[in-house]
Amino acid sequence: MKCFNVVQQVLDTTYAEIPGNEGTRDAAIREALKKMSNQYRTGLLTSGGPDFSDPVTRFAYVYLYVPAHAHWLYELITWSSDVQGLFQRPRLRMTCLGGGPGSDLVGALKYIDERNASPTLFCEIVDGCVQWKQTWSDLAFTLDWSSPLHTDYVIHDAADPSTWSAPCNIAKADLFTINFFASEIYHCGDNATDYIAHAFAKAKSGALVLMNDNNDSRFYDWFDAIAAAANMETLLSDQGQRKIYDGGEQSSAVGKYAEKFGMSSRLTGQLAWRVLQKR
Ligand SMILES: C[S@@+](CC[C@H](N)C(=O)[O-])C[C@H]1O[C@@H](n2cnc3c(N)ncnc32)[C@H](O)[C@@H]1O
Repeated sequence: MKCFNVVQQVLDTTYAEIPGNEGTRDAAIREALKKMSNQYRTGLLTSGGPDFSDPVTRFAYVYLYVPAHAHWLYELITWSSDVQGLFQRPRLRMTCLGGGPGSDLVGALKYIDERNASPTLFCEIVDGCVQWKQTWSDLAFTLDWSSPLHTDYVIHDAADPSTWSAPCNIAKADLFTINFFASEIYHCGDNATDYIAHAFAKAKSGALVLMNDNNDSRFYDWFDAIAAAANMETLLSDQGQRKIYDGGEQSSAVGKYAEKFGMSSRLTGQLAWRVLQKR
C-alpha cells in the first residue's frame, strides 16, 4: 500500500465535492495551498494552523501533507522494535491525537500491509475538527482493506477543556500517535499543555507514543517537558532531515494536481521525532 496512491483516490473523490465549477474550484484550491504553506512556514507557533472547516482547505492539506506525514509515521514505527512488537499482537488499540486527516491511520495501515502484520486494529481518531470525519470516512472507504479494522472518531478541542470529557478510549490505548499535532496546538498556551498532560495522565502503564513534528526547539522542548512530567520514558529522540525513502512512493500519482496547482506535495522536511513509553 502506498500513501500517494491512497491520497490520489481521496483527492479524486473530495475534489468533486467542492462547490463550484472547475475554474472556481481550482482558483480556490490554488489560493488555499499558497496560504497554508505560508501559514505553516511562518505563523504556526504563534497563530496556529489553518481553519479546516472549509472543504477547500481540507483538500489542500490532504494534497500537500498527508502522503509525507503518513509515510513518516510508518517509518517511525519501523524504527522502534517496541512499537513493531505491538503490531505482532492479535489486537491493537491505537489513539491518534489530532489524527483527523487520516495520515496517522494510513501510516499504520501501510506498516500492516507492507510488513504482513495482521492485528485487528482498533483506531480511535481524536480531533477538534468535526469536518475531517467526512474526509476521513472517504479514506477508510477507499482502502479495500482485508484485515479487521474498527474505527471511531471523537471530538476534543484542545483549546476547550469542557470538550475533553467526551467519551473516548484513551486510557485503553496501546499506542498513541501525535503526528504534527503538538505544534498545531502549541499556540493555545496552557490549554495545550494541559490537554497533552491530560492525555498522558490517562494513558495506561506501558502505552507507547509516536511523535513526529517540526524541528523547532521552542516547540519540542515544551513537548519534552510535558512528557517528562507525565512519567514518559524516552525510547527514541532525534531531529534532522527526513525524506520519503521509498521508491514505491510515487508523487506522480497526484501529478495531475501538481500540474493544475503549480505546487507539489511535501516530500522532505526538518523534523523532530520521539518514541515514548508510559512508566
Ligand atoms: C497539522 S494537522 C496534523 C494531522 C495529521 N496527524 C497529520 O500528521 O497529517 C493538525 C490537526 O490538529 C487538529 N487541530 C487543530 N487545532 C486543534 C484543537 N484546538 N484541538 C484539537 N485538534 C486540533 C486539526 O483539525 C488537524 O487535524
